[in-house]
Amino acid sequence: MKTEIYEIRCVDSEAAQNALARAGDILRRGGLVVFPTETVYGLGADATDATAASRIYTAKGRPSDNPLIVHVEAPEDAQKYAVTNEVYDRLATAFMPGPLTVIMPVKPTIPSTVTAGLSTVAVRCPSHPVARALLCAAGVPIAAPSANLSGSPSPTCARHVAEDMMGRVDMILDGGDSEIGLESTIVKIEEDGSLTLLRPGAVTPSMLMEIVPELHIADAVLAALPEGQTVLSPGMKYRHYAPKTTFILLDGTREQITAYAKKRKGKIGILCYKEDFDFFSTYFPADQCIIWGKREDTREQAKRLFTLLREMDKLSFDCIFAPLPPREEMGMALYNRMIRAAAHQIVHL
Ligand code: TXA
Ligand code: MG
Repeated sequence: MKTEIYEIRCVDSEAAQNALARAGDILRRGGLVVFPTETVYGLGADATDATAASRIYTAKGRPSDNPLIVHVEAPEDAQKYAVTNEVYDRLATAFMPGPLTVIMPVKPTIPSTVTAGLSTVAVRCPSHPVARALLCAAGVPIAAPSANLSGSPSPTCARHVAEDMMGRVDMILDGGDSEIGLESTIVKIEEDGSLTLLRPGAVTPSMLMEIVPELHIADAVLAALPEGQTVLSPGMKYRHYAPKTTFILLDGTREQITAYAKKRKGKIGILCYKEDFDFFSTYFPADQCIIWGKREDTREQAKRLFTLLREMDKLSFDCIFAPLPPREEMGMALYNRMIRAAAHQIVHL
């Protein structure tokens, strides 16, 4: 398959309008279009077309039991595809368009290929202008997972998408770097009106609880280590976003991290906060210390994380150590992605 790429920086230009019209056409005919969103890039197909949606699984190499998110142009469109309620309306008013996905009972308008046979569907209204313009041009809801090959980090720029998807999709719309860099927050509305957080993201727990006070965190989000255990490596099943280089999270001070890393043989990489770069680079060669972002700036860390995970494998380290993020607020989203990237290898120092 030949993949066309169009760069869109301003949706109003004539060239952009032409590209968007063509992309809309491809989607309506059952094709695949990769598009930017404020979180990560999505690999889109017409969500009402079972055959089109099934092509997504093939292009990504994704297991067919992992359901897709349905993207809608306006929050109120959700009711065409899901049984919405008053809790949804409140969440939509507070956070949409934006980086929140809501899981609700599915309506028959969405084929089971999209929901992987579940009785629920995930709905999201993205805020990125190109995503919005594409939804408008297509005139159909767009089923889209992240536009990476299954198992690799979600793409946050068109270059990442091209690495994974050239020849596998009809079109890539290049909208520049993703503003957030981590996938959307996913919540499920329970029958009693409470929320369960299934994936943390830029809409943080405290933001959600301001709108819906009762919020449960699903166990898998933080996948706590059994007490007293230092390293846990439950195997490939849990390895996502995974660099091929051994990646280990260290929970300790920078002095403890240095002492631990010094004992390790081979070429060591240290992912560090900006403030700690001078410290680490007195113990390790500067080109082995990779700056993640400022310590308190979890938004900046989020934006850089998936690029760093992709780049790590190109740096020929034998092992990379990174600090364990705090579990609060945006830190929870980082923690959730980092423990998966590290295949749950955490050492408490
Ligand atoms: O930010 C995002 O959400 C990006 C952009 C493209 O919108 N999309 C994204 O999609 O991250 P994906 O497929 O990579 O992640 C969606 C997650 C999967 O873990 C899937 O299992 C879950 O949502 N999911 C989808 N429908 C679900 C449902 N009905 N019940 C429970 N989980 C569901
Ligand atoms: Mg994904």
